[in-house]
Amino acid sequence: MPNLSVRMRRLRQSAGIRTLVQEHHVHPRDLIYPLFIRDGVGIKRAISSMPGQFQWSIDMVLSEIADIVRLGIPGVMLFGIPDHKDAVGSQNYDTQGIIPRAIRAIKSAYPELVVISDLCFCEYTDHGHCGLINTADAPHFHAELPEGYVLNDETLELLGRAAVVHAHAGADIIAPSGMMDGMVQQIRTSLDHANYSHVSIMSYAIKYASGFYGPFRDAAESPPQFGDRSQYQMNPANQREALRELAIDIAEGADMVMVKPAMSYLDIIWQARHACHAPIAAYHVSGEYAMLHAAAQNGWIDLERCAMESLVSIKRAGADMIITYFAKDVARWTGASHD
Ligand code: PBG
Repeated sequence: MPNLSVRMRRLRQSAGIRTLVQEHHVHPRDLIYPLFIRDGVGIKRAISSMPGQFQWSIDMVLSEIADIVRLGIPGVMLFGIPDHKDAVGSQNYDTQGIIPRAIRAIKSAYPELVVISDLCFCEYTDHGHCGLINTADAPHFHAELPEGYVLNDETLELLGRAAVVHAHAGADIIAPSGMMDGMVQQIRTSLDHANYSHVSIMSYAIKYASGFYGPFRDAAESPPQFGDRSQYQMNPANQREALRELAIDIAEGADMVMVKPAMSYLDIIWQARHACHAPIAAYHVSGEYAMLHAAAQNGWIDLERCAMESLVSIKRAGADMIITYFAKDVARWTGASHD
């Protein structure tokens, strides 16, 4: 007989004991719900590759927000779909742009809700890239760089401007997702100069050039019109580089950092957890959501069980909070109530 003085199954015996020894939890209070907001009135348009997700006009999103608040989800992350796109993404820093207007409407109705604005240019530029493009006919043309190159430093200036506009509209947290070098420092400086030193920055510090963003690009109508994002987003094969990105963004003043996507990068979340003491968010992205739904629709997996397993694995890896399209489902599944 083996020595069975230690029996691991003793602690798995009943639901009560299993609950007591459970190490990690997924609770709606740790979740952030992403929302796609578009110009127009009376719009609630289903996103076909993301079942249960919609593009909303501002008037329609307020009742959705009421639900989110009632379910005890503390924050939302906003993505804008403007009617008008141009080469410099001007709707991103226009005070009457879709996101500044949405922030004002949401914050005045629900001042307690944490509003995070995703600060990137890809939804606002006609070329779909996350910054200004080097083109021969533009005033910012750099002859020493190839045409089509995404210009870092010129983009920074616009990011700073947009951050101030979003903060002025009432955003609690600015979340730059464009992977431009120096973006956190530029945004911090711009916010501070405009007297928004109390507004936080959640940096998409470690963002990989991922195929799992596919459905999002339909949802936000933001695919790059040429090339891809691998000149600014990270190579999925790299791990040490992630820790350099993390250290830089924290040194530049990021209050929180993000790893994105989540499921294929649990090792990165784990390493980030051990490399810094800042709060870590993980983004369970559109493709991860779509895959679970697609398999469940085919009857191949159980949606609730697999979604909860995915989310708890992200917590176990070390994330403090998760940005997820499942946030409302989690609130329903766990029966967690606001109080
Ligand atoms: C904008 C941005 C993207 C996502 C969040 N912010 C798309 C991208 O980088 O191409 C993806 C989110 C998701 O897939 O759910 N830069």
